[in-house]
Amino acid sequence: MRILSGIQPSGRPHLGNYFSMMKRMLEYQETSELFCFVASYHAMTTVEKGEDLARNIEGVVLDFLALGMDPNRSTFWVQSDVPEVTELTWILSMQITVPQLELAHSFKDKVAQGIIPSGGLFIYPILMAADILAFRSEKVPVGKDQKQHLEFTRDIARRFNNVYGDILTMPEADISEDVAVVPGLDGRKMSKSYKNTIDFFASEKDLKKAVSSIITDSKGVDDVKEPEGPLYDIYSLFLDEDGRKALADRFRTPGTGYGHIKMDLLKAILEHFGEARERRATLEKDPDTVRDMLAAGAKKARAVAAPLLEDVRKATGLRYMR
Ligand code: TYM
Repeated sequence: MRILSGIQPSGRPHLGNYFSMMKRMLEYQETSELFCFVASYHAMTTVEKGEDLARNIEGVVLDFLALGMDPNRSTFWVQSDVPEVTELTWILSMQITVPQLELAHSFKDKVAQGIIPSGGLFIYPILMAADILAFRSEKVPVGKDQKQHLEFTRDIARRFNNVYGDILTMPEADISEDVAVVPGLDGRKMSKSYKNTIDFFASEKDLKKAVSSIITDSKGVDDVKEPEGPLYDIYSLFLDEDGRKALADRFRTPGTGYGHIKMDLLKAILEHFGEARERRATLEKDPDTVRDMLAAGAKKARAVAAPLLEDVRKATGLRYMR
């Protein structure tokens, strides 16, 4: 089974990205052929300054490696290092119409947030389809907010295959219901654009600040509290079923305040990411090795995308006089 997914370096990754995509990708690494990339071109739709984009890309690369991405076993690269994908984007753009693209929730949401409605933002789903289809991906682990993008990808692939023959592999979204929408500090979906995120590699001080600002109701230590809301939901991500039951009991039993629970959540986060945080600090000191890994990753990725592109050029008439 070939698994592929990507993450935008549009800021610091957060617990929503981690539980719905990064963690699951690393689990797949044990059993499947894994393709994972940092979506640098996608991030250009929201990150304008070159130095910010470069720093974000480096950050996400370090995060993934620290969490356990193994570039020897898997293919791990930065999107803009594989030009075949952008070439495919143009070709695939004939397979979707403007009215269809106008239905994209993600485009509408971003424009509503004040992001410039650039041509790039509009054709974002086509680039994403190319990411997926260039590597003959079968399964794409994502959060719920990417569901419609996967539907566009399937529509594009279906239409392309109808016109040119059975060339593209039909991918499937792989959404895990219990982590499909991870809530943020304010209870809305955790999202970089809402500034309600928890960056699990942040300093202890910043993590503490973030965890402390999770919204709760105003019930005090001696009140019975309902096991619900962002504090309960975020903490639950770190617990198994028994742990969740125990947490629910703590909410319901007077004597524990939200402040205590928050500090326990902080401990749980630091413990869960403890080893990864150490590995990240070590990797950070060795940019040459990381750069070499990425160069090798892009080479491996190109070797997979190039033959597919050859088939596409042949079928579409772009490979002429041969
Ligand atoms: P991005 O960078 O916004 O997010 C990366 C992954 O994290 C998921 N996610 C969440 N899941 C649950 N709860 C949340 N609060 C939450 N916030 C984010 C996203 O659904 C995503 O799976 N367009 C993609 C990047 C991309 C891509 C691709 C993904 C580009 N090309 C090809 C798969 C295949 C994006 O913006 O993800």
